[in-house]
Amino acid sequence: MTAMQATYNYKVVRQFAIMTVAWGVVGMAVGVLIAAQLIWPELNLAPWLTYGRLRPLHTNAVIFAFGGSALFATSYYVVQRTCHVRLYSDALAAFTFWGWQAVIVAAAVTLPLGITTSKEYAELEWPIDVLITLVWVAYAVVFFGTLARRKTPHIYVANWFFGAFILTIALLHVVNNAEVPVTFTKSYSAYPGVQDAMVQWWYGHNAVGFFLTAGFLGMMYYFIPKQAERPIYSYRLSVVHFWALIFTYMWAGPHHLHYTALPDWAQSLGMVFSLILLAPSWGGMINGIMTLSGAWDKLRDDPILKFLVTSLSFYGMSTFEGPMMSIKTVNALSHYTDWTIGHVHSGALGWVAMVSIGSLYYVIPRLFGRGEMYSTQLVTAHFWISTVGVVLYIAAMWIAGVMQGLMWRAVNADGTLTYSFAESVKAMYPFYAIRLLGGVLFLSGMLLMVYNVWKTVAGRPPVDAPIPAAAAAHA
Ligand code: HEM
Ligand code: HEM
Repeated sequence: MTAMQATYNYKVVRQFAIMTVAWGVVGMAVGVLIAAQLIWPELNLAPWLTYGRLRPLHTNAVIFAFGGSALFATSYYVVQRTCHVRLYSDALAAFTFWGWQAVIVAAAVTLPLGITTSKEYAELEWPIDVLITLVWVAYAVVFFGTLARRKTPHIYVANWFFGAFILTIALLHVVNNAEVPVTFTKSYSAYPGVQDAMVQWWYGHNAVGFFLTAGFLGMMYYFIPKQAERPIYSYRLSVVHFWALIFTYMWAGPHHLHYTALPDWAQSLGMVFSLILLAPSWGGMINGIMTLSGAWDKLRDDPILKFLVTSLSFYGMSTFEGPMMSIKTVNALSHYTDWTIGHVHSGALGWVAMVSIGSLYYVIPRLFGRGEMYSTQLVTAHFWISTVGVVLYIAAMWIAGVMQGLMWRAVNADGTLTYSFAESVKAMYPFYAIRLLGGVLFLSGMLLMVYNVWKTVAGRPPVDAPIPAAAAAHA
């Protein structure tokens, strides 16, 4: 490498990668706190520390701060490596980093103060929405600008998923946050009544499909082949998977509004598209898992691959469960219960967090000129602790959820309810304790990661890899 040789912009990747770990710890610590509050209500120590204010803080921190930073880090890394060019603009990339951190800090201040639009996953008030829009436009310019200047002949499939994620989130954010400002900290939605609910859950479900899924599939398509040192199982399947997934997700939102004022046909349409969604979801999972065919032995002692492949199993599980829960008669039982919470976390912890953790363990050493993490044993320990944590969490919620649903609908011969609501709450205690234990384990795994990352990077100069001189076929 000569002094003049062009390098990739790893600085912004390093910044986002480190902040992913930091926000992961913060968001999950808040998750552990609210899980504890459900057991010990006396932990609601002050108005800004109450469950109602901390719950949205948890969801925003884990989805947008932890998940968002992981997506920025990996998309910037992957788009450069697969296109053989530096990011389109260093200045705009830096703006996305500082702008996104500012959004997160603003969320962390306003949500505990009770400043909220009250739309789930879109709670942030309008000035923060404006900042998000600016950051997102800059992100799109950097990402697509880099793609446009690529030196490689075709666009690798991971970038398709990252690109779809960026475009769709822009659309969802702008449409769902159309609001009329009243003061600097208060606005009202532009939509009335049931339209507002429909737009909100069109947004909400596509936030699952594009924020919590498409971008992470981008990670899957790059890091599984890389870590397994095998080409993706089927490029053709990945193209079918892509188009089928993005087409179908758009229509599934009404399954969040079963048995509401939404017209019945719209509910049924949402259910049908949710059932169809099983096929592309499993197509993607199979493509990822089958990439290991002929290399299964690598799973035995490679904890990064364990993280990546296990995350796909959870992805397969939650995308089987989701379509089942969208069936109206099943939803009549599951809605309002902890079953939903179990489903959410099998996707969020099992899929989103684990695929991110695996990808970060691949990327972080390379950003500091190292081949691997400081301690592989600690990565292995992290893998087992988090797997046990997720299983405890979701198994407890499944039992709790189904029990709640059945207790609420149980009636005596004379038509009166068998159980009071308080009795169903009391029956939840043991399961809430198991969930708390699962959460504590998952958080402990993250703390191991902090230590391992610290030992990997401390005192190491940041290293920006050189861009290959001639365009090669792959990164
Ligand atoms: C240590 C790990 C975690 C713990 C202990 C935890 C705990 C919790 C708790 C107690 C709730 C409220 C449940 C209720 O209202 O009954 C919750 C909600 C939620 N969490 Fe987590 N969580 C963790 C990690 C995550 C991660 C990593 C994500 C996303 C990537 C996530 C996404 C969500 C979402 C989306 C909800 C709202 C679900 C809904 O409204 O149906 N959580 N979490
Ligand atoms: C084929 C894919 C999927 C389908 C059809 C699906 C379907 C569903 C259904 C029917 C509900 C319950 C709605 C209700 O009763 O209110 C739900 C809730 C939820 N799902 Fe999924 N799901 C899928 C995949 C996923 C994945 C992979 C994740 C996370 C990474 C996820 C995250 C969530 C969240 C966060 C909620 C709670 C929303 C809320 O009420 O706050 N889902 N999903």
